[in-house]
Amino acid sequence: MAAEMEQAIYVQADLAFEADRVRLIDEAIAAWGQLDVLINNAGISKVIPHGDLASASSTVWHELNEVNVIAPFHLVALAESALRDAARHRRAGCVVNISSHAGIRPKGASIPYAVSKAALNHMTRLLAVSLGPDIRVNAVAPGLVDTPLTAEWTGAQELWRTRAPMRRAASPDDIAKAVAMLIESDYLTGEILLSDGGLNLT
Ligand SMILES: NC(=O)c1ccc[n+]([C@@H]2O[C@H](COP(=O)([O-])OP(=O)(O)OC[C@H]3O[C@@H](n4cnc5c(N)ncnc54)[C@H](OP(=O)(O)O)[C@@H]3O)[C@@H](O)[C@H]2O)c1
Repeated sequence: MAAEMEQAIYVQADLAFEADRVRLIDEAIAAWGQLDVLINNAGISKVIPHGDLASASSTVWHELNEVNVIAPFHLVALAESALRDAARHRRAGCVVNISSHAGIRPKGASIPYAVSKAALNHMTRLLAVSLGPDIRVNAVAPGLVDTPLTAEWTGAQELWRTRAPMRRAASPDDIAKAVAMLIESDYLTGEILLSDGGLNLT
């Protein structure tokens, strides 16, 4: 992707590790001299039936929490000063977290996953209160998106085809457009934009 995008850079980082998060933000600022927008998209999931409490081990909870909750928070903290600079020199800094409809409704691949995304949604609102007006913080909460993560989720694909008003799962491009909309909307902060093709209405 970086090769296709003029001026983009690619930095490899495992966000489960603090040192990699620090390096990621440092390298972005070193490359551009500024940081205006942070999109926390990386996330992991684990499919566990909600009734199977034994399989939702402490290890699973810790792994999902580290990447889906702690890493986004830490990245915002590391980027805060550069995002405030953006407000001083251009326009408010902007954070967009990619959460999930599972963080809004009692659904999702597993309870630890859904809880991690609910935490990310709440964190979004808390940070919006703490960091405004210099930094806006919003989230996009996708329903089903056609990505490698969901390639085998035939049941969910069928559900979206038959029940969602839009009669399909989202494409990554659909979600990117929702993110772009939040970046452009200078007055929006603390919003969780549910992007599920209307499934929640049915
Ligand atoms: N697909 C859906 O239906 C759906 C629905 C709701 C929300 N979401 C959320 O949307 C986001 C993107 O998901 P996706 O569907 O694109 O999933 P995916 O196909 O599994 O891709 C996940 C991305 O996160 C990166 N990642 C995972 N763990 C990481 C780590 N420790 N450090 C750095 N990068 C890491 C992966 O990098 P590598 O490829 O290098 O591992 C990959 O680029 C996630 O936050 C997910 O929870 C997805």
